[in-house]
Amino acid sequence: MKSLIDITDFSVKEIDELLNTALDIIAHPKKYSKKCKGKILATLFYEPSTRTRLSFESAMHELGGSVIGFSSADSSSASKGESFADTAKVISNYAHVIAMRTPIEGAPLVASLNASIPVINAGDGGHLHPTQTLADLLTIKREKGRLNNLTVGFCGDLKYGRTVHSLISAFSRYENINIVLISPKELKLPSYVKHDVLEKNNMPYEETTDLENSLPKLDVLYMTRVQQERFADKDEYEKLKNSYILTKEKFEKAKKDTIILHPLPRVNEISVKLDEDERACYFKQVANGKYVRMALILKLLTLAKDKTKCTLNKEGLIYNQHKCTNPKCITKTEQELDNVCKPSKTDGDVLRCVYCDKKVNK
Ligand code: NCD
Repeated sequence: MKSLIDITDFSVKEIDELLNTALDIIAHPKKYSKKCKGKILATLFYEPSTRTRLSFESAMHELGGSVIGFSSADSSSASKGESFADTAKVISNYAHVIAMRTPIEGAPLVASLNASIPVINAGDGGHLHPTQTLADLLTIKREKGRLNNLTVGFCGDLKYGRTVHSLISAFSRYENINIVLISPKELKLPSYVKHDVLEKNNMPYEETTDLENSLPKLDVLYMTRVQQERFADKDEYEKLKNSYILTKEKFEKAKKDTIILHPLPRVNEISVKLDEDERACYFKQVANGKYVRMALILKLLTLAKDKTKCTLNKEGLIYNQHKCTNPKCITKTEQELDNVCKPSKTDGDVLRCVYCDKKVNK
């Protein structure tokens, strides 16, 4: 059995297969309309969502399956204090696959270790969002014709933007990718991505605050919203919320074939006037998200025929010697969960929490 918690849970070959299945679904939807007959998807959403939850639900319906679930923590037993481990064990009796979104970083991993059905991470706090990455990759493949040889600019909230973390991880396994990180200094990419993904894989990258002067070199511009809900200090959010606003005039500096992506929702970081520009691909991303989630559900249900439960890859892990310091980590809320850490990939002296990737104080 396989779950999708981190995009690197799938090899590049497996991702290519998923993208190809999505393309086949787009070309021959009828062929897939009964593939999940009798199967149930559970959408466990403890955090707001429009696209991710509804695209998962629409995907399962289009495959002929059905859907159960909840769309806020208040309407689940989490509000009574139920753990993610128990919830995962319970839902395993009602459904064949789980898609889960939560503000708690590492919770989908814990769910996957306790469920007897596949778990899909549909976003865990400011950490990871691998299925948005599948939508992003499919869009780039369709619009640019390739996933290699690209200069990709990420702009906005690179600290809390979980879609950014997962897409950079995915790109670390393709050839000749240059990354331009455009953010205010307060919202820079976290070290677990910078050191353990970019530097570990020798990926060329630069950090800048300047969007306009970065535009001419980009093949893909990935805009993000400042993630209001992740800020402990609301004044800090107010100060940073208008850091980047892409307008038609500014985008004139870009190449004729630079595409604009955005995981959405948009607040004000892309002018609606740009929507009519054929290089604005964020609504195409939405469409692609549904097809690639259909491909993912199919793949995970096929792999679930092997009932072996998901486990942590035990190599190099250190148990219960150091506590994770991230207040949003699952180790802070889940009952009797071992604190587990792993050495950083670039500096063996640095230890990272296995659930949320944040540094652990020694
Ligand atoms: C993103 C998310 O939830 O992380 N949205 C999405 O899933 N398409 C981006 C965001 O909320 O800004």
